[in-house]
Amino acid sequence: MSEYNDKLSKVIEGVGVVPVIAINDARKAVPLAKALLAGGIPCIEVTFRTAAAEDAIKAIHKEVPEMYLGAGTVISIAQAEKAIAAGARFIVSPGLDENIVRWCLERDIAVFPGTCTPTEVQKAVSLGLSVLKFFPSEAAGGVNMIKNICGPFPQVRFMTTGGISMANIAQYQACKHVVAVGGSWMAKSDAIDAEKWDEITAKCKEAVSAMKR
Ligand code: 3PG
Repeated sequence: MSEYNDKLSKVIEGVGVVPVIAINDARKAVPLAKALLAGGIPCIEVTFRTAAAEDAIKAIHKEVPEMYLGAGTVISIAQAEKAIAAGARFIVSPGLDENIVRWCLERDIAVFPGTCTPTEVQKAVSLGLSVLKFFPSEAAGGVNMIKNICGPFPQVRFMTTGGISMANIAQYQACKHVVAVGGSWMAKSDAIDAEKWDEITAKCKEAVSAMKR
């Protein structure tokens, strides 16, 4: 593992929270990143769900270099290439695409493919991964499903996303198989549009404190 990836995994696990962002206006990316930092979160997953994603990644890379910056909803190698060229340092996908995983591993880029079944987890393990995204967490059975999957795969740990909020975060905090939770609840697109930076910072602080171990 590269020195950077080692630091990244320590940061993600140390903070326990990765905001998943769908940003409509790249001009909001830098104040958003600063709001997350002020809330104690030095990592961000900017999803390719909006046209502004690439420019948002570029802006954060340039203006907030201390941020551990990832791209999410990456469903093709072309998107992974764009994300990395823009400054992203890790790749998250909703599902498991062997080609994307291999492309990242060949370049020593941290990659978190989405999994939620034993078959997908087994495939990811065979590709050499041990920290996976678990998605869509709540709909797929949440912590109960994670504990069951980790029976045969004790080496696997998850960054879980999908339906997580302050209402259920405590279950994830208590689960030893969970490295971190991710989600959009701290910085929803409408809150970013409305520049509610203080509110976003407060939600980040609350989430970080709930994931403290
Ligand atoms: C993701 O891509 O990780 C999820 O869509 C985030 O899920 P959430 O919006 O329910 O937090």
